[in-house]
Amino acid sequence: MTANKFYVLVIVLIALNICQALDCYDCDSSDENCIKSVASVNKTACTGEDICYTKTDTGTGKVTRGCGAKDSCPSGNCFSCSEDSCNTHIICKKCDATDASCSQTNADDAKYNQVCNVSNSCIKQVKDKQVVRGCVADNPCGSANTDTCNVCKDANCNVGIFPEKRRLCHQCENSSCNDVSSASPTPCLLYDAAEKCYTKGDSADTMVRGCQSDTAAKCSAGNTDDKCLTCDSADGCNNLKFERTVSCFQCSDATDCAEAQDSNATECSKPVSYLQANECYSQVKNGLALRGCFIERDEQLGTCSEETSCTSCASAGCNKAALDVTFTCVRCRSDNFGGCRNNAANIGGEKCSNSTAEEKCFWGQWDGIVLRGCLSDADYLTTYQCNNPKDNRCHTCTTSNCNTKAPSGASTLQSLGVGLNLLLVFGFLSARWRVL
Ligand SMILES: *[C@@H]1O[C@H](CO)[C@@H](O)[C@H](O)[C@H]1NC(C)=O
Ligand SMILES: *[C@@H]1O[C@H](CO)[C@@H](O)[C@H](O)[C@H]1NC(C)=O
Ligand SMILES: *[C@@H]1O[C@H](CO)[C@@H](O)[C@H](O)[C@H]1NC(C)=O
Ligand SMILES: *[C@@H]1O[C@H](CO)[C@@H](O)[C@H](O)[C@H]1NC(C)=O
Ligand SMILES: *[C@@H]1O[C@H](CO)[C@@H](O)[C@H](O)[C@H]1NC(C)=O
Repeated sequence: MTANKFYVLVIVLIALNICQALDCYDCDSSDENCIKSVASVNKTACTGEDICYTKTDTGTGKVTRGCGAKDSCPSGNCFSCSEDSCNTHIICKKCDATDASCSQTNADDAKYNQVCNVSNSCIKQVKDKQVVRGCVADNPCGSANTDTCNVCKDANCNVGIFPEKRRLCHQCENSSCNDVSSASPTPCLLYDAAEKCYTKGDSADTMVRGCQSDTAAKCSAGNTDDKCLTCDSADGCNNLKFERTVSCFQCSDATDCAEAQDSNATECSKPVSYLQANECYSQVKNGLALRGCFIERDEQLGTCSEETSCTSCASAGCNKAALDVTFTCVRCRSDNFGGCRNNAANIGGEKCSNSTAEEKCFWGQWDGIVLRGCLSDADYLTTYQCNNPKDNRCHTCTTSNCNTKAPSGASTLQSLGVGLNLLLVFGFLSARWRVL
């Protein structure tokens, strides 16, 4: 090739290059592919412009890609480049800790769109207990994402309530804050892994609900105000109205009331305060099934607990399950069965031979021998002694298998007749009592 021919070729090549227009992606965010899938949008051949750009509008977050003049792309919310199809800049959500909604919403709104450099990632992280979102060139979260620092590669992947597992609470005050049954709980302003929600109020018009971590929380951690109710059982657990009417099954007998209840529960006579979680109870006592409204429960029934065969529950008609009213007592005597004295809790109960509606178990010690059984099966004298609170030989109790306590120490044979009575009490056959 001669030198002349070579120059001609070079000039032709340069001319071709100049004439070949720049191709840029050309779209705006009315087409969602313009954000999510740039490679699938149409390109345009630029007419005289020398850069491709991607920009986001402040305020609306509208995304535009296209051809532009060199100085038409101010840095900040615009990125430019000058190769074919190079305007593939990633869009991420951007918001700072100064914007409460960054922590308290999923930041899905278009107004948070922010253009970032081509190879950037999107990030969401907790900084000083608040959420910030944006884009990063490197990965400050380390090799693996954590609950409080998350880097991702796809457009706008840094949306969503963050951290994912943060507690959501109802947050409101005054009259619209009484009935929150149709409201959605929201994230607290500050992130606290051990967040609790609270409820406080003096009337239906003055309810306050919020997060224990709020700087102005009415019920902060350590607050001992007895009007403060805190919870962390579920998102939106601080949802009880100042007062609510409740319905429960209400009955007491040994037959129908013991069966699973399938009719409608009956409204309780008094409303229940938000400070009271329990609504209904069911209990087995003396072979009877008892069901009713928790706040109307007779104090004489004792604390509602496993010990008293009582369960409480917290939703309308929740006390419906079938109850086992079979009354049993531990039945043994220590001279025939060593465990009867000190290990009665592990023996297990047996049905009484002669159950009555007012069933009781008894335990006592006569002449060094410990006896346990059903009071209805005992003879007249034993029954008399056990029912006499001044007689320390014997004690009674009223729930199944309640007679497992160790006997109180000093008691002597006070009646020669007792030995005979005992034969009556334990006359029926049981392996446990058979003389070995
Ligand atoms: C992309 O280009 C194709 C073919 O030119 C055209 O049919 C289509 O409408 C264009 N799409 C958009 C979103 O402009
Ligand atoms: C964008 O990324 C390119 C390389 O990927 C880099 O050269 C350029 O400086 C970056 N621009 C900004 C504003 O960070
Ligand atoms: C709620 O009521 C209190 C007491 O009446 C009042 O001081 C406060 O401003 C009210 N808050 C709102 C948001 O209305
Ligand atoms: C239970 O309540 C529903 C709706 O209030 C009513 O239609 C139904 O007849 C009631 N059932 C009984 C057994 O009372
Ligand atoms: C069971 O009760 C019946 C009737 O009250 C009585 O006759 C019987 O003696 C009792 N049996 C025992 C073992 O106490």
